Amino acid sequence: MNNINIFLLISLLISLTFAFYFFYRINELSKKIKRQEIILNGAQKLSRMLYELEEQENFLREMWNILKTVTNADEFTYFKFDGIDTLIPEYVEGIYRDQILKTRLKLGEGFSGKVALEKTPKYLNSANKSNIAKHIPGTPNEDSALLAVPIVFNDELYGVILLTKLGNKKFNEEELNRTETLVNMAASLIAEIRLVNTIKNSFIEMLKALITAVELKDTYTAGHSLRVSKIAEIIAENMGLPATEIARCRIGGLLHDIGKIGIKEDILKNDTPLTPELREDIIRHPELGYKLIKKLKILESVAETVLYHHEWFNGKGYPFHLKGSEIPISSRIVHVADAIDAMVSGRPHSKRKTLNEAMEELIRFSGIQFDPLVVKVALQSKEKIESILKEDIKESILDDEKLFEIL
Ligand SMILES: [Fe+2]
Repeated sequence: MNNINIFLLISLLISLTFAFYFFYRINELSKKIKRQEIILNGAQKLSRMLYELEEQENFLREMWNILKTVTNADEFTYFKFDGIDTLIPEYVEGIYRDQILKTRLKLGEGFSGKVALEKTPKYLNSANKSNIAKHIPGTPNEDSALLAVPIVFNDELYGVILLTKLGNKKFNEEELNRTETLVNMAASLIAEIRLVNTIKNSFIEMLKALITAVELKDTYTAGHSLRVSKIAEIIAENMGLPATEIARCRIGGLLHDIGKIGIKEDILKNDTPLTPELREDIIRHPELGYKLIKKLKILESVAETVLYHHEWFNGKGYPFHLKGSEIPISSRIVHVADAIDAMVSGRPHSKRKTLNEAMEELIRFSGIQFDPLVVKVALQSKEKIESILKEDIKESILDDEKLFEIL
């Protein structure tokens, strides 16, 4: 081989090495861009979810989907900080979910507790060989790697995201950076979800107080709103309506007369036939109720149930004289449930009826005051309605958080 050939061969080898090197770098770079794209798209999706007032659980599930892709972790735990000294696992994904959910960590305790206390992201490989990590009762003492990032917003600790790799898989610096990037982007959203939930809970507490106040103010027997809620729910279920419509009936039933809080007590308790002026006043209650509850976005659709709960099927009701299917189905159901409980409980100007008599009354006014289909299903649901009416309903039942679920 002459000198020129050797020179050509060396040049070719150098070119190939450079080509491979550049190819490798470009490949690595495009993988990195892809991962950043996943994080960025995910963050956008997460922030959209917040504006749609999605539940925290969906939000965290989406976070886990992104983190799983960019770190290859096997388990995900969101520890909520209780604001005092404890981390409580609120959302867990992975095979040891049930065991992890029972764990409580004090600040500084275990790996996640330390990360929370120091507000510094960290990872720990071969966690079972270290004395920092706390072994979770009920899980095998196998090798695992941990990666935890504190959720901090405006210097305030909200919780910790913990990722786990099972077996002898390890975390690295780059995975820590990726997780930290996403958690930092999500921290403000998590803080906001917490705030929205606090507002929502305070609002629900206020509604419960108002329901009780309305019942004390009006001529009702205690528990009327809750019975209407339960009867409406049974009818909606037996009509085969979708879950959101059933929830609308349950919550609409509970809140149907909340607008009476704005009506004078002597008008509500008046047991003589109402003069046109007094009637004018009392028929404002569906609109007052509507204005009160539509302020909260999640109760917007229930506000309509309340607004139309005194409309009649033939258009002779109030406030808008809507007819038939112009009236939302949840309002037609609540109207029937309200009538059943009012007849069975009795009112100052009308004697108590038995459930059979009330059912006869429904038939008599079917197609006039009441939707015939709702009447038909109410008749078929008679046994269940009877057991609701027999229940000893106490005010404390209003504490059942499920009453306000799914909307
Ligand atoms: Fe009413």
